[in-house]
Amino acid sequence: MRMYDLIYTKKLGGALTPGQIAFWVKGAADGTIADEQSAALLMAICWRGMTTEETLALTLAMRDSGTRMDLSSVPGIKVDKHSTGGVGDKTTLILGPIVAACGVPCPMFSGRGLGHTGGTIDKFASIPGLKVELTDAEFLRSLRETRFANSAPTGDIAPADKKLYALRDVTATVESIPLITASIMSKKLAGGADALVLDVKCGPGAFMKTLEEARTLAESMVAVGKAHGMRIRALITRMDAPLGWAIGNALEVMESVEILRGEHADSELAQMSFRLAAEMLLLGGAATTLEEAETKVQTTLRDGSALETLRRFVALNGGDAKALDDFSRLPQPGQAIEVRADRAGYIQAIDGRALGLLAMELGAGRKDRNDVLDLGVGIRVHAAVGQEVKEDDLLFTLFTKAGAQPDHAAYQATIQWNEGTISPSSWLLATIA
Ligand code: URA
Repeated sequence: MRMYDLIYTKKLGGALTPGQIAFWVKGAADGTIADEQSAALLMAICWRGMTTEETLALTLAMRDSGTRMDLSSVPGIKVDKHSTGGVGDKTTLILGPIVAACGVPCPMFSGRGLGHTGGTIDKFASIPGLKVELTDAEFLRSLRETRFANSAPTGDIAPADKKLYALRDVTATVESIPLITASIMSKKLAGGADALVLDVKCGPGAFMKTLEEARTLAESMVAVGKAHGMRIRALITRMDAPLGWAIGNALEVMESVEILRGEHADSELAQMSFRLAAEMLLLGGAATTLEEAETKVQTTLRDGSALETLRRFVALNGGDAKALDDFSRLPQPGQAIEVRADRAGYIQAIDGRALGLLAMELGAGRKDRNDVLDLGVGIRVHAAVGQEVKEDDLLFTLFTKAGAQPDHAAYQATIQWNEGTISPSSWLLATIA
């Protein structure tokens, strides 16, 4: 087989066979196919797309490029969640303990942040002592004893995705529905869960800018999951602002704990986390109607069992569980700086991507994979979409290293203004089953 022929076929809009796709993925991962040939095929896929059969074959080949987690020793339907990413998205920290407290095992592999996006692993790493790279045995023990496990991928999950994602990142080929589908679903299938709830973000700061694109991606991932016998459901959620008040690692732990304590219950972050958790309970067989699932979610907040599950997860994996009740034990910033409005108006949108990049500049995120984070720094977002703002109202509090002098104008520029009132639309745009 010649890689040239695969590139040529796809350039003309033809379909590749499962054998050809397996040949490419294996060669890309083991280095026997040159990066420039893989890059050319990636670009051809971006333009020409893939059939459902090709996307399935790509997902399988990527899943099988590495190890697979065997969760069969843990009883029950294991339910995972994946979000296509948003600044301030800490739903895993909230819904994982809720779902586990309802009796459904929740195994989750998470990534580290890069660029404007934060990573769940970095957020958990801000809890002193917490081990965020578990061995398979530790992961299974956590899942068995607390019903919640979160770790950077153990073993060698989907190494072909690492290789191809790095190439996509530098060749402007990330935004392709079959490539995103195979990348996400190969890792989720290798992670071993029986069921998956997807949160597909839609909006100016997301991969998918329109509802139509988000729907196509959601349907593509649901089709691949179903073809592999997974119970799977997707929510399409609006992204026109950062999620919640916190951007930055320790700050996001604080906000998550506050929600588990029952605070900010009406916030979009809380509502979204509760709904995703309820969907996970439905897939996990812990409820038969959405209403029943939502009631169970609320019970774990009221009786404290969700927060207690998080404490147990942290303590079991070497972390300082007292930090969840005493935030002064979490990493702290050097100073706090207020950014105030330089004009009056109504907030139409808040550019989460730009704020994510500003948080990265503060030290909360990575410019380069090897950067060391300052886990205590970040941004508190006071501004909200739809809000009427007067000149000099507080928009953001920046938690920075001592002596840092952030550019206030750059923060003010993240707000998109409107002269008249705005009625914010629902965060939930569609569900795909
Ligand atoms: N997240 C992934 O893991 N892969 C993609 O391709 C896009 C988002």
